[in-house]
Amino acid sequence: GKGGYDHYMLKEIESQPESLSNTIRGRIDPEAPAVHLEDFPPGCFQDVTEVHFVACGTSYHAALYGARLLEEANVRVRTSRASEFTGRIPDPEGTLVVPVTQSGETADTLGALRAAGEAGARTLAVTNVVGSTVAREADEVLYIRAGPEIGVAATKTFSSQVVTLALLVERLTQEIDGAAAREDLGAFLEALSVLPNQIEEVIRTSRAEALSSKYDGRDAYFFIGHALQHPVALEGALKFKEITYEHAEGFASGELKHGPLALVTPGTPIFALFDGKHDEKTHTNAKEAQARGAEIVAVTASERTAAFADDMLVIPDTHPDLSGLLANVQLQFVSYYTARSLGRPIDKPRNLAKSVTVE
Ligand code: M6R
Repeated sequence: GKGGYDHYMLKEIESQPESLSNTIRGRIDPEAPAVHLEDFPPGCFQDVTEVHFVACGTSYHAALYGARLLEEANVRVRTSRASEFTGRIPDPEGTLVVPVTQSGETADTLGALRAAGEAGARTLAVTNVVGSTVAREADEVLYIRAGPEIGVAATKTFSSQVVTLALLVERLTQEIDGAAAREDLGAFLEALSVLPNQIEEVIRTSRAEALSSKYDGRDAYFFIGHALQHPVALEGALKFKEITYEHAEGFASGELKHGPLALVTPGTPIFALFDGKHDEKTHTNAKEAQARGAEIVAVTASERTAAFADDMLVIPDTHPDLSGLLANVQLQFVSYYTARSLGRPIDKPRNLAKSVTVE
C-alpha cells in the first residue's frame, strides 16, 4: 500500500535513503578501496574495449550518466535510445552492450538487446526486476535492488540505476586497457556510503513545495546542467512533463544560446543544476537567460553559486560525481508538488503505462 502517503510517487521519492542503501549494500568498501559486484569476479571485463548503452526514458538518462563517467575515464562509449538502435556493432568481440531498464520488459530495449546478441556482442543487463524478460535473455545481469516501483514516474529506480552504473563503471575502468580509473576511489566510495543520509537530509529540508506554488502557471519550464548535471536536467524535464502535463525541456547549459534562448520570456523558470566542479558554464548561461527575464532556481550546495539566482534549492555538499543524484531528488519534489497543486493524477498520468511492452 501507500503507507500513509497520498501517492506512491511521494512514498517512492521518500524511500530513496532505504532503496539506495540496498543498492550499495555489500558492494562498496571505501577502506580498501574496492567495488565488489556479485557474479562479476575481478578480471571479467578485461576483454572489453567499448561499451554501448541502450535504454528508454528515465533509464536512458541514467545510461547517459554512466556514459559520461566512462567518457571522462577515456573509455569508448556510445548511448542509444533503444528505439533508435541500429544493431550495428563494429567490433562485437570487444563490445559490451548494456541494456538499462527498470522493468526489464520494455519492448524497445528488448529489441535492442536481441539485435546486439545477434550481432555477437556480450550483453549485460542492468535492471530492477528479477526474472524479467531482459534479465533472462541477457548474457549477464546486474540488479539495481531498488525494490518494487508502482508509480508510473520512475523515481527511486533512477537513483539506484545511476549508482549501480557508477559501480559498474569503476570495475570497467579498472580492467579496460587504456582506461583512466578514478584516482580518488576511496573518497568517491566514502561519499557514496553517506549519500543515503544526504538524501534523507534533502527530504527533511526541501523547500520544493513552497517553491512549486510560486512558479506554477508559467508557459514553460526549463532545466539546464553541464557534464553529469546534463542528464539530470533531461530527467528533471521528463518527470515534469510526464506528471504535470506542463511544457518542460532539459538542455545542456551551453546549448541554451544555440536556439532555446529564443523561447525565454520574462518569468520563464529555469532550474539550473550545479555540481560544484563545473559551475562556471552553467552560471554564465543561466545569467544570460536571466538578463532576458528568466527566473533562475539554482540547485546547488553553495550559497555563493546561488547568489545571482532568484531562488535556491539546497543540496548537501558531496563528491561532484554524485551531486546530480541530490539535485534530482529536489527536482522530483518540484514535479510532484507542481502536479499536486494542478490536481493531476500523479501515479497514473494520462496516456502512459508503467512498462511499455509495444515498440
Ligand atoms: O522499465 P524501463 O526502465 O525500461 O522503462 C523505460 C521508460 O519507459 C521509463 O523510464 C519512462 O520514461 C518513465 N515513465 C519515466 O518516468
